[in-house]
Amino acid sequence: MRPKLVVGNWKLNTRRDEAQALAQALAAGWSGSAQVRLVVCPPAVHIPVVAAALEGSRVALGAQNLAEQPEGAFTGEIAGEMLADYGCGFVIVGHSERRALFGETNAVVASKMLRALDSGLTPIVCIGETLAEREAGQVEAVIGAQLDALVAAATAGLAGIVLAYEPIWAIGTGQTASPAQAQAVHAFIRGRLSAANPAWADVPVLYGGSVKADNAASLFAEQDIDGALVGGASLAADDFLAIGQQALQA
Ligand code: PGA
Repeated sequence: MRPKLVVGNWKLNTRRDEAQALAQALAAGWSGSAQVRLVVCPPAVHIPVVAAALEGSRVALGAQNLAEQPEGAFTGEIAGEMLADYGCGFVIVGHSERRALFGETNAVVASKMLRALDSGLTPIVCIGETLAEREAGQVEAVIGAQLDALVAAATAGLAGIVLAYEPIWAIGTGQTASPAQAQAVHAFIRGRLSAANPAWADVPVLYGGSVKADNAASLFAEQDIDGALVGGASLAADDFLAIGQQALQA
């Protein structure tokens, strides 16, 4: 069985004290397991505070974004190596909010994925369709194109990445894909990756989009769902820990 990964994406939330308290509560409340990895991705400016709060715990640290470049005249950007220096092991790449609001194309997402790998970070690459695309029957075409861009860019392979399937219509809406809807797309993703290269059959594929403590178990029960990328419910320690517990029991 593939181990599970439960990732909290705090987005543009938490002030310094809140970030510290949340990280301390997670560190205290998670005893860890080889079967389930818990990761938190705070706003970048809080990374040092959160890293200190997580020290010695079994909760891992990630970032929400990284620059496409390693260094240079790119005002406001943060390089993967800098994130690694501060203790990050993971970075979310190509979240739908970055694609829709900050103009990240499939090509930019693929190039950031490579930068993450070069920096020693595990990229959690997000893919997913809009409601209009789903209603038009284009789920596989959209997801397929997003995957193809990654496959084309990854000359050294995709074995070190994590994927997150996040249907955009389910993000922050309280509307979750049903376990069967999610499983169908996860199976499609796994099939497409294994067809490209059998060695990629075990790339973890997380589900994201309104995952909560009360729907996580049914999602985790699906064969091709390897964990969750959690937004809103990752901002309360008890809720996020409860999702971690569901993954442990899956
Ligand atoms: P949500 O966000 O859990 O609040 O829907 C998920 C995400 O955007 O990663």
